[in-house]
Amino acid sequence: AKSLVIAIDGPAAAGKGTLAKRLSEHYHLPYLDTGLLYRGIGKLAFERGVDLDDPVATGEIARGLEPAHLDEPPLRGHEAGERASRVAVHPPVRQALEDFQRAFAAGPKGAVLDGRDIGTVICPGADVKIFVTASAEVRARRRTDELAAKGRPPEYERILAEVKERDARDAGRATAPLKPAADAHLLDTSEMDIETAFQTACGLIDRSL
Ligand code: C5P
Repeated sequence: AKSLVIAIDGPAAAGKGTLAKRLSEHYHLPYLDTGLLYRGIGKLAFERGVDLDDPVATGEIARGLEPAHLDEPPLRGHEAGERASRVAVHPPVRQALEDFQRAFAAGPKGAVLDGRDIGTVICPGADVKIFVTASAEVRARRRTDELAAKGRPPEYERILAEVKERDARDAGRATAPLKPAADAHLLDTSEMDIETAFQTACGLIDRSL
């Protein structure tokens, strides 16, 4: 059977991860959350007292990244995301991760990868590219509700400011900025629940097979 590579990109908190994971289960493909790689590097740099804005030192950490560094729940939090987006601006960091991501996508069945530059840089030849968006307000609202469900106080305004700050850094950087590939399908989930987003994505994928 032919392999299938699905590239899912989009801004923070757009629901990419949930969607990508469901698609990987539905199409029986391995799944790589590439944000986790940048989160792991940011975390290691922070723990080792390395300057997150130093491209050479963080690039060295990126070259030594191992799977064991990525298996930790704290990597999911907001702080880890901030550190990730600071180290992710450096070309040596991005370069160190390229081969691993491309090799993952080149497996016999194909793969689902989610991130910021999968359709543009890592897998420009992906079979299907989906750029998942939602308004900053909707993303901040979803994140606020998620945190509230875990018993944290609602801080919508602060979270909205953080979402906008991360968008600006990811879209504004010189290397591999967040943007849809020319041939990506745009999936705006502002007024969709996850089930509808999933069904819509399956429709796009099935049509392109
Ligand atoms: O997707 P997630 O929020 O886990 O990603 C954390 C940060 O890592 C992003 O804000 C972005 O700066 C960086 N990233 C990236 N390229 C990717 C995946 C993540 O630059 N492919």
